[in-house]
Amino acid sequence: MKVSLVVNGSPREVDLPPLSRLLDALRGPLGLTGTKEGCAEGECGACTVLLDGDPVNACLVAIGQCEGRRVTTVEGLACAGHLSPLQRCFVEEGGAQCGICTPGMLLSAEALLARSPDPSELEVREALAGNLCRCTGYQRIVESVRAAAALRRGGGGAAP
Ligand code: FES
Ligand code: FES
Repeated sequence: MKVSLVVNGSPREVDLPPLSRLLDALRGPLGLTGTKEGCAEGECGACTVLLDGDPVNACLVAIGQCEGRRVTTVEGLACAGHLSPLQRCFVEEGGAQCGICTPGMLLSAEALLARSPDPSELEVREALAGNLCRCTGYQRIVESVRAAAALRRGGGGAAP
């Protein structure tokens, strides 16, 4: 089945069985290996991407559901070679350690900041509740997201 979709702002086409996972389309023919696979059953959030702006687990989405839709992966956050505010803050605030959870965290946080420019700590924790991290203890991640929110409100640039 041929599926046309927009990935990180660019029109792309894949030819895969309709029940193939979006995760496999991204990491395979689309060549976007930033999206990680953890549990493969919707529990860990490592594979989180945005589908029409909403966070989804790419391991649970069939490529056949993606015709004509917009997908954003971690590769789509940086702009013209510059890290997005969220990415910069994860680096500067220690929000990433091994990095396996980081792409999914970034996409869930991106969706949060798009709808809530000044989230409370509780809002951040709720938005990231589906993303598991075995390294950081979460506090640094929450601080990274809140620092990015402040940076964006201060004109530090919004991610695309
Ligand atoms: S790999 Fe998709 S939720 Fe864990
Ligand atoms: S930084 Fe290692 S799992 Fe989160």
